[in-house]
Amino acid sequence: MAKLRPLAGAARLFTTPLEPEDFLGLVNPLLSSRQLRGLVTRVEHEAPDSATIHFRPGRGWLNHQAGQWARIGVEIDGVRHWRSYSLSAPAGGDPAITVTAIGQVSEALVRNTAPGDVLFLGPPQGDFVLPEHPRPLLMLTAGSGLTPVMSMIRTLTRQRADADVVLIHSSRTMEDALFREELGHLAGNHPGLRVVHWVTSEQGRLDLTHAGHLDEVCEDWRTRAAFACGPSDFLDSAEALWREVDTDHPLIIERFATVRLDGAGGEGGLVTFTRSDKEVEVDGSTTILDAGEDAGVVMPSGCRMGICRTCLTPLLAGTVRDLRNGELITGEGELIQTCVTAPAGPVDLEV
Ligand SMILES: Cc1cc2nc3c(=O)[nH]c(=O)nc-3n(C[C@H](O)[C@H](O)[C@H](O)COP(=O)(O)OP(=O)(O)OC[C@H]3O[C@@H](n4cnc5c(N)ncnc54)[C@H](O)[C@@H]3O)c2cc1C
Ligand code: FES
Repeated sequence: MAKLRPLAGAARLFTTPLEPEDFLGLVNPLLSSRQLRGLVTRVEHEAPDSATIHFRPGRGWLNHQAGQWARIGVEIDGVRHWRSYSLSAPAGGDPAITVTAIGQVSEALVRNTAPGDVLFLGPPQGDFVLPEHPRPLLMLTAGSGLTPVMSMIRTLTRQRADADVVLIHSSRTMEDALFREELGHLAGNHPGLRVVHWVTSEQGRLDLTHAGHLDEVCEDWRTRAAFACGPSDFLDSAEALWREVDTDHPLIIERFATVRLDGAGGEGGLVTFTRSDKEVEVDGSTTILDAGEDAGVVMPSGCRMGICRTCLTPLLAGTVRDLRNGELITGEGELIQTCVTAPAGPVDLEV
């Protein structure tokens, strides 16, 4: 990762006309009138491919609620990339993210981040948050899906001695299980917190296509408000199960990746990024956002899964297909979400 350390960007900044905010940034990297930033204060390695990055946000940051996420921008080889990360720290304190390395940006964050680096930030957002009134909770998580729930558990165990929470966390091995020591410690000190580790290399998949496994590990799961976060198939099964069973208690889900409609891709086409003066041939299952970034176009983006609308871009001509539902969007001036659409024929965009 090309690191943006305090003052280290000075040479680059002087190659372009300086704006007032650049002078502020030179004095203190957290001061910027346009862009929220955070100074990395600590990096903890949680599991072989995961790290928690603690940061001190600058002016303009609003405290997060437990379970919310924020857009995080990092510069890699001079290009700023944005991804979304759940805030794993408890509500009310300095934020932290816990990242599992699976691709370009997460690899860079896990392997190359060091105290003193500066992260670009979007404000905390999302409604995967604790219920307003105390009630028995069931947390169902797998892999990195534990991160928003960890913020909730850390918050509850600090704020509510009477919290009643069962966490069922699935990981490949115990070594891969994020926060396992801290969870053991918290469960030992809070009678209302029960932590169940489901280790897939020994027990097989935590099967949510029927009630059997849940009945086995948490008899009263039907009487709890449930929160789930993990891979798509895990969440799809949980949703289907909750639709089937007799429970008045909600299941609230957080997804890290878009659910695409099977076979929604199709035509593809030549995409012209008019302001950037670039043309790219894109297949029908690659998003316009991914194609533009690969071609070096600076594209606005946030969640990259159709939630935040940061990527809205005016269509000048042509038709795009929404990969979530297969719908076609046509017409000059239509705003399209480039993170979930692919071209259906030639497309001109104002970016
Ligand atoms: C609301 C929200 C919260 C998120 N919170 C976290 C978090 O706390 N920790 C974390 O590590 N990541 C989190 N993510 C995922 C993160 O934003 C990135 O998608 C992820 O780090 C991969 O980015 P990349 O550039 O490394 O790889 P890319 O090359 O951009 O992505 C590779 C592919 O992996 C998919 N993907 C993303 N997340 C997962 C996953 N967990 N398991 C399997 N496939 C995945 C992407 O959709 C993409 O198709 C969150 C995403 C969202 C939308
Ligand atoms: S990046 Fe969030 S909706 Fe497209």
